[in-house]
Order: sequence, then C-alpha cells, then structure tokens
Amino acid sequence: MKLTVSLISLAVASGALAPPSGQIPFTGETPKPMTREFIPLLGFGTWNLDRSNASEAVSFAIQSGFRHIDCAAAYGNEELVGKGIADGLAKTGLSREDLWITSKLWNDHHGAKNVPIAIATSLEKLGIDYLDLYHIHWPVSSKDKKNHVGYKSTYAAMTKLLETGQVKHLGVCNFSPYQLDDLLNSTSHPPSVHQMELHPYLQQNEWIDWHSKHGIHVTAYSPFAGANPTYDPGEPPQLLHNDVTQRIAKKRNCTPAQVLLVWGISRGTSVIPKSSHADRIVENVGALTCKLEKSDVQELDGLGKWHHRFVNPSKSWGVDLYEGLEDSKGKHTKSA
Ligand SMILES: NC(=O)c1ccc[n+]([C@@H]2O[C@H](COP(=O)([O-])OP(=O)(O)OC[C@H]3O[C@@H](n4cnc5c(N)ncnc54)[C@H](OP(=O)(O)O)[C@@H]3O)[C@@H](O)[C@H]2O)c1
Ligand SMILES: *[C@@H]1O[C@H](CO)[C@@H](O)[C@H](O)[C@H]1NC(C)=O
Ligand SMILES: *[C@@H]1O[C@H](CO)[C@@H](O)[C@H](O)[C@H]1NC(C)=O
Repeated sequence: MKLTVSLISLAVASGALAPPSGQIPFTGETPKPMTREFIPLLGFGTWNLDRSNASEAVSFAIQSGFRHIDCAAAYGNEELVGKGIADGLAKTGLSREDLWITSKLWNDHHGAKNVPIAIATSLEKLGIDYLDLYHIHWPVSSKDKKNHVGYKSTYAAMTKLLETGQVKHLGVCNFSPYQLDDLLNSTSHPPSVHQMELHPYLQQNEWIDWHSKHGIHVTAYSPFAGANPTYDPGEPPQLLHNDVTQRIAKKRNCTPAQVLLVWGISRGTSVIPKSSHADRIVENVGALTCKLEKSDVQELDGLGKWHHRFVNPSKSWGVDLYEGLEDSKGKHTKSA
C-alpha cells in the first residue's frame, strides 16, 4: 500500500493566525502541496490538556490552523475534546472532512467483543461519526487484571470498522519489531500509521527507515521529549532548553519548540505537540513557517547519542515492551 504524506491544509478562517501556505518548512526540500489526502504532518496532542479549558484549547487549535487532532479513550477527555472540535468547526466554518481525527483503543478494550463498544464510545464522546485513524494504544491487554498480549484478534476486529465506515485508517502505537511483524503476518490490512515516542533524544532512525520501506507512516509523540510534566526528566537537559536547540532557534528566527517540530517534520514523521496555552498553540502551528538548513538538522541529529526514552510502563504492567528498540530497558542503550 502506497501512502502519500501531506502537509496541513491551511485554508484557515482566522487569517491573522494563518501561516502562509504552499511551503514545506525545510529549505533543503522542494515545497510540497498542503493537501489533506492523508495525515497532516502537524497535529494537536490532547493528553493532559488542562480540564478547565480543554474544549477552548482544541477549538483555538483549530482556529489557529491545526487540522489534525490526536485523541485517546485513555486521556479521559474525549467529550471535552469533542466539544472543542464542534466549536472550532463552527467558528472557522470548516466541516468534519477538513479535519483528521485520531483516537486509540485502550488496554481494557482488547478483544473482538470489546472493539465495537470501544469505537462506539469514542465516537459518541467525540461527537463525530467516523475517525480518520483508530490506533491500538498499546500491544498490551489488561483483561482480567493480567497483562497479556492479544493484539491480533483485537486488530482483526478493528478491520471490520473499515467496512462499517466508523474508521478510515487503522494504526498501532508502541509496538516492537517482533509484534509488528507478527501483526503484519496475521492481516491483509496492514496498519497505515505507527505512533511512537520520537524526538532528538530518541531518534530510532533504523526503525523509521523500516516503516518507510513498508509504507507505514510514523507519528512522533512527545516531540518536546521531557517537557511533559508527568515524565521523569531524567538525565538529559530539557530538550527545549538544550544549547543546540536554543542556538538554532536564535539563528533561524524560530522558537525552540518550532525547531523541534520542524526537525520531526523534516524526516517525514507527523508531530503532535500538546499545549493548553493559546500563545504556545499559535507558536506551535507557526512551525510551518520556520525554515531550517540541512546543517541545523544534522546538528540536532547529533543529540541522538542520548538514546533516552521517557515513556516505558513496562515495569508497572509487568510486560516487556519495545524489545529490540532503543533504550528498551531504560539504560540509554541503542538496542535492547
Ligand atoms: N500513543 C501514545 O502512547 C502516546 C504517548 C504520549 C503522548 N501521546 C500523544 O502525543 C501528544 C504530545 O505528547 P506529550 O503531550 O507527551 O508531550 P509534548 O507535546 O512533547 O509536550 C507537552 C508539554 O510541552 C509544553 N509545551 C507545549 N508547547 C510548548 C511551547 N511552544 N514552548 C514550551 N513548552 C511547550 C506543554 O505545556 P502546556 O500544555 O502547559 O502549554 C506540555 O507541558 C500527547 O498529547 C498525546 O496526544 C501519545
Ligand atoms: C487554560 O487555562 C490555563 C490555566 O488557567 C491558562 O494558563 C491557559 O491560557 C488557558 N488556555 C486557553 C486556551 O484558554
Ligand atoms: C512472519 O512471517 C515470516 C514469513 O513466513 C516469518 O519468517 C516470520 O518469522 C514471521 N514473524 C513472526 C513474528 O512470527
């Protein structure tokens, strides 16, 4: 299956906030059209949005130019996010089809019987009648309080949602190479997207190359690395404050956040920064006008020596995760 990756559509109502269209934000590359045939490369994360104004933040993100919203049942805020989507569409005059909306099936809804319940619940809460993308959130099921991996039957049940029209594309998150190979062997509907932790401190270059060879698009979560306040910041300096990030931002007249988002987009991954703050939402969508040189990207690539993974619930769930991938054991190692 051949997938075309496209940039965010920028036909925005609020002209003042709309970055100029028609340019991929990377001077080394030929500009690509900003269409919405497939996942927009800049999306809005919704995990840990401040609950007091999550709807306002989502609506504001849409008004500011975001066309891709990353949701999940586990974030416990799909109703608030759904209200924000409805408000954002009303205020911009856009329609549902102008957005790319993703959600994820949580660990407690694995299994053929639970899949139709999980999708119906997410759609109802979000107030929409289809998802552009539905992920398996983790290759781990928590049924009967025992973590066991049941992703193949879950995924098989999810392929039926392509027929009912409730879902346009299927995806997975946080799979290891073995798990993904195992899944691919079991289905004639390969996932369109794999969402995983990616930033300059955890680059996973070979893993990304593998996906591009197999026609699977990659979405980068936590593009600002340890900025998420629920993460243990660990050893590396905060990526947004790292000297390299700061220096490049100054040189290119961008902000550190924009530099990190462009780094992710320049390697063909979509990035899904979350913010509860209006000024940062505008700043993050402004990444689409920040231009980096190849040398900047190479300098950021140099930060890959940290091999630092922030998200690993392996111990608390009692299962092995990320086997064979960078820093799977939390020791800053390139491989397991
Ligand atoms: N599939 C998975 O297992 C998985 C796991 C993790 C995340 N995700 C998805 O990925 C999304 C993004 O990841 P994330 O939320 O972990 O982290 P992130 O987007 O990398 O970072 C979010 C943090 O950065 C701050 N921030 C945002 N914009 C900023 C800016 N311009 N300047 C300075 N600070 C800024 C935010 O603060 P404020 O909000 O206070 O502004 C927040 O504390 C999530 O929301 C979720 O949708 C998926
Ligand atoms: C949401 O509330 C927080 C905390 O009061 C505030 O700092 C932020 O600017 C608000 N965001 C929006 C989009 O209204
Ligand atoms: C997938 O199928 C190939 C070809 O039959 C096989 O070599 C490989 O071991 C299988 N992968 C898994 C994880 O079972």
